[in-house]
Amino acid sequence: MTPEQHEQLEAICKTFLAQRNTNLVFLTGAGLSAESGLPTFRGSDGYWTMGSVNYTPQEVATLAFWEHQPWVVWKLTRHLLHAIQKNDPNIGHDSIARIDRILGDRCRVITQNVDAYHQAAGNDPDRVYEIHGHAFQVRCGEDCQYPPKLLPLPASVASPEPELDMSSADLRCQNCGGFLRPHALFFDELYNDELYYLRKSLNAVRKAGLLVIVGTAGATTLPQEIVETAYEKGAFIVDINPDRDPFAEKAEERGLYLPYKAGEVLPVLALLLA
Ligand code: OAD
Repeated sequence: MTPEQHEQLEAICKTFLAQRNTNLVFLTGAGLSAESGLPTFRGSDGYWTMGSVNYTPQEVATLAFWEHQPWVVWKLTRHLLHAIQKNDPNIGHDSIARIDRILGDRCRVITQNVDAYHQAAGNDPDRVYEIHGHAFQVRCGEDCQYPPKLLPLPASVASPEPELDMSSADLRCQNCGGFLRPHALFFDELYNDELYYLRKSLNAVRKAGLLVIVGTAGATTLPQEIVETAYEKGAFIVDINPDRDPFAEKAEERGLYLPYKAGEVLPVLALLLA
């Protein structure tokens, strides 16, 4: 970070801290976990870029595909899950957790990541809104109960065995016998309040004095609405991403765009907010 950028960030933090009645909202994406060793989605080694021999992930991670070939959806999900299990939160997650401890109820984390690294780093789980789901939870694929019940990962899914035995009894819903599905938002599904923190996220950002965006390409609709809302409400916007993303322009106008890795900026932010 240049001395000028540091000065600007410091001024934003000071103004935010003086406000007292506003929130700091983090909006995080796959770029935050890249420094843990997890591939992003749209980067050159990303899940969505690499695709698979038979189908693109955009085809597979859909309700339509789930209904016809659930084993293919599980295969992709387990690939992601095993990468999450093999790695750990990094200094960026640790810094956000430190800020959460400093600010307490003034802090919210809205994350697109399903890796649960924010909670593992020490964020208060009640202040982490996982808008795309949670890799260590499943639910009934038939939506047989309302409100939907989130369940821990079945042993057969969690196991490091490369092949998933689709006849395992633990893959079945105990209520209706249908297949359990990953608790993740598919491409052809909509955000909602019950499972994906839609209203909570929008309410949090309406109260934001500072929105810090970390490591997202900005390709999904709720994050776009979150940034737009913060912008309309007049919050400071800080965007951290080594590659320019669609939010950089708003950040330059209302705060700061920082073209650096999350792990280079977030420890500094934690010091400035202490
Ligand atoms: P993407 O893979 O689309 O974008 C990752 C962003 O992180 C890119 O803009 C990178 O430039 C940036 N990045 C890479 N390394 C970084 C680092 N060290 N520090 C900061 N930024 C870095 O991931 P998302 O935007 O999170 O949804 O993707 C959003 C959603 O699209 C995902 O949650 C997933 C996918 O479809 C679901 O699975 C429902």
